[in-house]
Amino acid sequence: MPYYFIILSSFLIILLCFLYIILILDSILANVSIKYIDVSTSKKATRVIKEILDELNLKEAAFFDLGSGRGALAIRIKRFFPCFNVYGFDRSPFKIYLSRIRAFLSGQKVVFIRKNIFNINLGKADIIYVYIWPETMKKLKEKLEKELKPGATIIASTFPVPGWQPQITKETLSIKKDPGFERIYVYRR
Ligand SMILES: C[S@@+](CC[C@H](N)C(=O)[O-])C[C@H]1O[C@@H](n2cnc3c(N)ncnc32)[C@H](O)[C@@H]1O
Repeated sequence: MPYYFIILSSFLIILLCFLYIILILDSILANVSIKYIDVSTSKKATRVIKEILDELNLKEAAFFDLGSGRGALAIRIKRFFPCFNVYGFDRSPFKIYLSRIRAFLSGQKVVFIRKNIFNINLGKADIIYVYIWPETMKKLKEKLEKELKPGATIIASTFPVPGWQPQITKETLSIKKDPGFERIYVYRR
């Protein structure tokens, strides 16, 4: 076996181990189970969200992505709606740093803040996007009911706000075998 092949594969193995250790450390710091290393909103679902936001016809809005992950959705929203003030909140330091780098490289002014979403005042948000696990949604519902201003729009992906009646439901069918996956729920306070 050529020696450069051995060096290259050793390098790749070390790199993978390093990335895996970062992910584990990050999930410990963010207090998230490693099984929840997350999924991001797909481009297809983002297009559906864009259509929903187009219909709102807002000139200016504060858009909060609660649990912004690696930042792709928030950055795409800023690109589609430059007039929006877009904020991404996540408790994972690794994802927030990564999101800031992505925002910088893409030239989009998105504010990424490392914070537990339960420590944010939601009263300033005009639009809230949330793609978060059902057990967190249950708790978040109470906070939304207490803090949201009248007229705020809430867009939830995959996991609905328990007990709320959506105004609109849209399928994105990113994964055909699991139709509930990336179903988009829209609510109005
Ligand atoms: C499924 S990902 C969604 C990522 C992004 N919103 C998107 O659509 O691409 C969920 C994210 O929520 C974050 N998260 C979960 N609970 C949180 C909490 N209490 N506070 C802040 N972030 C949280 C996780 O770290 C993860 O990055």
